[in-house]
Amino acid sequence: MTPDDPSRVSEDQTWSGRFSEPVADLVKHYSASIGFDQRLAEFDIQGSLAHAKMLHACNVLSAKDLADIERGLGQISEEITRGIFEWSVDHEDVHLNIEHRLTELVGDAGKRLHTARSRNDQVATDIRLYLRHSIDNILQLLRSFQANLLDLAEQHVDTLMPGFTHLQVAQPVSFAHHLMAYYEMTLRDAQRFSECRARVNLLPLGAAALAGTTFPIDRAKVARELGFDDVCQNSLDAVSDRDFAIEFCADAALLMMHLSRLSEELILWMNPRFGFVRLADRFCTGSSIMPQKKNPDVPELVRGKTGRVNGDLISLLTLMKAQPLAYNKDNQEDKEPLFDSIDTVVTSLRIYADLLMGIEVDRDAMRSAASEGFATATDLADYLVRKGLPFREAHEAVARAVRSAAEKGVDLADLSVEDLRQFSSLIDEDARTQLSLDGALAARNHVGGTAAQQVKRAIEAARKSIFG
Ligand code: ARG
Repeated sequence: MTPDDPSRVSEDQTWSGRFSEPVADLVKHYSASIGFDQRLAEFDIQGSLAHAKMLHACNVLSAKDLADIERGLGQISEEITRGIFEWSVDHEDVHLNIEHRLTELVGDAGKRLHTARSRNDQVATDIRLYLRHSIDNILQLLRSFQANLLDLAEQHVDTLMPGFTHLQVAQPVSFAHHLMAYYEMTLRDAQRFSECRARVNLLPLGAAALAGTTFPIDRAKVARELGFDDVCQNSLDAVSDRDFAIEFCADAALLMMHLSRLSEELILWMNPRFGFVRLADRFCTGSSIMPQKKNPDVPELVRGKTGRVNGDLISLLTLMKAQPLAYNKDNQEDKEPLFDSIDTVVTSLRIYADLLMGIEVDRDAMRSAASEGFATATDLADYLVRKGLPFREAHEAVARAVRSAAEKGVDLADLSVEDLRQFSSLIDEDARTQLSLDGALAARNHVGGTAAQQVKRAIEAARKSIFG
């Protein structure tokens, strides 16, 4: 622009026709999203190709223009893949950067591509395509994580450990049973992502800026071309709401919460006071000052990164809550939290799947921890119930036995039958089998219980559901 030519702002600014001065440099940088929305490029191109094909099929775009657009977008895609595409903040975002280059390459056809479309329905389409792709990747990674979890569980159906409540020894469980709890959690995570995918997989294109378009478009054709299940039914809703991204972040936060709980346990179990597991050295780091240290950095980081995904969810909820219909520029801020959640989940799952294979279990340490803390007290109470005592009375009798054992500094299993009979005359020699850890484990033999038979069945069922 020259000072004596105030009517023209800049060739670079696609929407500049009605402006009499260029956008301030600070504003240009403040409002640009090209720094972070570049990663939508591949999907932006897919969306544009489907849109152009449809325009041609509906006689809005000539065969020559379509061919030019296809050729130009093909070249742009190659330039991006080869890393030679020149992204510029002058063109604000991924959509305008690509359109600008297309026009450079093919002339007028590039300028016609935006017929019957707005960046509002374009960006909503790009995010949905990108998110759908990301969910598929996450579902795949979740399957690998679960497969490794099952491999580990399979080796430990008979590995006995203390189960905890209040982080106090409660009842013996098998390590496999404990791991399978995480299988169930991640199974629900996978289901949530799949359900979210169904709501993501709807086409916004055709909504244009907010109200639809005057051109005779065929939205169903574009949806089919892009693999969407259907089209968004209301144009205002299609360009404005990001509830699908919020839903994804909520699902991501739940998954991270599960991984964080597992991390917390691994960190505890690695502590020499537990000594239940060792992590392969490749997942640990040392201390720069304390030569003896081997720190569980990876689980700690997963636990820490859970916080940022929670933050992403809150960011998006807050971003959306006060927006009037329809599109507002606020929505440009949907991308970074969404991308951050995707990246965090992807890298955490990837590293965790590997980490599971590097877990070494100290069976003796687990068993000996289970033998402290009167883990079979409930079994003795159950025995008395079977002999006819009401549960509350059985509970009381065993509580007194525990107290006496604790005073003597021994386990319940170390008390003689004579000792035990002081607390209930219903106790006979056969009570002692109830007090063994292995007996306690084997006795919980129903669906959902920790008996080896049940856990094996659960592992088999899980394998079938993962691998079909
Ligand atoms: N970069 C914008 C975004 O991410 C694209 C849509 C812009 N639309 C508009 N009306 N300014 O939301």
